[in-house]
Amino acid sequence: MPYRIRNGLIDYLEIMQIAGVSELGAPVLSDCVSAEIVPVKTDGNPTEIIEQQNQTNEIPNKNIENIENIEINKNTENNINTENIENTKNIEQIPAEKTGEIAQDSLIAMSKSKIDLLQELSQKVAQCARCSELVLNRTQTVFGAGNPDTQLVFLGEAPGVDEDKRGQPFVGRAGVLLSDIITKGMKIRREDVYICNVLRCRPPGNRTPLPEEAEHCKPFLEQTLEIIKPKFICCLGAVAAQNLLQTTMPVGSMRGNVYYYKDIKVICTYHPAYLLRNPAIKKQTWEDIQLLMHEMGLTVNK
Ligand code: URA
Ligand code: URA
Repeated sequence: MPYRIRNGLIDYLEIMQIAGVSELGAPVLSDCVSAEIVPVKTDGNPTEIIEQQNQTNEIPNKNIENIENIEINKNTENNINTENIENTKNIEQIPAEKTGEIAQDSLIAMSKSKIDLLQELSQKVAQCARCSELVLNRTQTVFGAGNPDTQLVFLGEAPGVDEDKRGQPFVGRAGVLLSDIITKGMKIRREDVYICNVLRCRPPGNRTPLPEEAEHCKPFLEQTLEIIKPKFICCLGAVAAQNLLQTTMPVGSMRGNVYYYKDIKVICTYHPAYLLRNPAIKKQTWEDIQLLMHEMGLTVNK
């Protein structure tokens, strides 16, 4: 039984699906163009999609200029040479919802909107005046930095003097150590993760954030995580771990376990600044990072 392709490649794809090649996944246009046509089963009820024709027709093998009126004869072996398909005007893109695949351009759109959302949030943060002492002492707020499409967020405590000056998280000595942990330990790029803090303002003299300061800043952390939607959070030090997980447990007791913040896996380790003061605990930090890497499915090179 021959079938006529009514509407160019789009019906061709549907025919392929009826013929049971949907396990190819969601073919993108380039796949369709290079795919071979396959025999069409007649027992599927394809009538909604393809019109049955009463006559058999030859399919031209070469120089197909206009694919609108291509006829497929099921009873002959047809190999459509698609190299020369010139006219693709009638091709519609299959909507991503239909294919279940995220189209490349919507991925880009997603990233853009995450960037836009973070930008909007960072403007709110910059105008925040909830903690009067911090507002009076800050040079600027430090929102966060990195790739918003990341799976992994590192959460620190609060900006220090260098961060306050530069407006970027973890750019002082502790930041250099954090970079080493990420690049030398995990073998990933620092710009591929996202880094932020519980507080977005520097506490004077680098004192520990007060509970009410952390409380004021909490919506900003929650919204940052809602936008990024990471799969993993690595808490650096007690302030990060205790505020994120709403606990008073010391970091030493939280190490080695996987916790959850909403549906995000949380690993807790020592703060890099603590590590600088206590180099002997680098071993434990590396164990924590290995646990994180294991959870993330990353290869650990010992
Ligand atoms: N310590 C932190 O907790 N965060 C920074 O951004 C820098 C140092
Ligand atoms: N206490 C902290 O506040 N941070 C650490 O990393 C370890 C102990």
